[in-house]
Amino acid sequence: MPEPTAPSSGSPSGPGYAESRRGGVVLDLLTAAVAAIGPAPLRIVDAGGGTGGVAVPLAALGHEVLVVDPSPDAMVSLRRRAEERADGSADRIRAVQGDLAELPEHVPAGGADVVVCHDVLAAVDDPDAALHAVAEALRPGGLASVLVAGRGGAVLARALAGRFTAAAALLDGSGDPAPGRYDPAGLVAALGAAGLQVTATHAIRVFADLVPGALLEHDPAAPGALAALERSVAGDPQFLPIAARLHAFALRPDQPV
Ligand SMILES: C[S@@+](CC[C@H](N)C(=O)[O-])C[C@H]1O[C@@H](n2cnc3c(N)ncnc32)[C@H](O)[C@@H]1O
Repeated sequence: MPEPTAPSSGSPSGPGYAESRRGGVVLDLLTAAVAAIGPAPLRIVDAGGGTGGVAVPLAALGHEVLVVDPSPDAMVSLRRRAEERADGSADRIRAVQGDLAELPEHVPAGGADVVVCHDVLAAVDDPDAALHAVAEALRPGGLASVLVAGRGGAVLARALAGRFTAAAALLDGSGDPAPGRYDPAGLVAALGAAGLQVTATHAIRVFADLVPGALLEHDPAAPGALAALERSVAGDPQFLPIAARLHAFALRPDQPV
């Protein structure tokens, strides 16, 4: 089922709005965290990397990025996006068509410094097994960046769209049986069960999906202000339970936890 959208008409535009919806906050957090892991070139795996919204910027920083994704269309778009930069990024990206469950076929155990897994767990058959595959691919001390759909944010979005029964069903667990939607504690527990140590969690898209598009269209300053607001709450744990997306950084410990 598609994510509910803001109860509005119109199609908002502008860099601030696009950024707040498409993950500028996450990309900035990730870029800083990757820099802390070590200098380029790091071995980065983008599991379910899609069209390269994360892989291409990381390759542009000089990292070697392997994208594993089952979609041939995404592979084509990824290649096009990388080549458009004309800065050598395309040479640093390798793309293989594959499933997250097959990650061990493409990445030797401990062969990655960083594994990115953004907005993929809702699409896989077994999210827990997928997180184990992420952990196994990481070297000790390596970094996982995981972005998932938030359960509370989905309840809020349904309620604000007038879908009260669907919101209640999601809340009590009787609806939306799709796995891969987490509350903050559940995400930390799932990462821990995979053998990863969570170092930070972030609230992503707290407001962006709920704001009526008309509000953003009528005030040219509004998209930028919204993006700034999203940035300011991302690190505030109070906003985790209502965020549309939950993000976590987790390290593979030197010794198993
Ligand atoms: C919502 S997109 C996210 C793309 C990218 N990670 C991002 O954040 O922009 C979900 C991606 O997961 C991929 N996907 C779906 N099922 C998958 C699976 N079983 N293993 C790996 N990737 C999968 C899709 O092809 C798609 O590219």
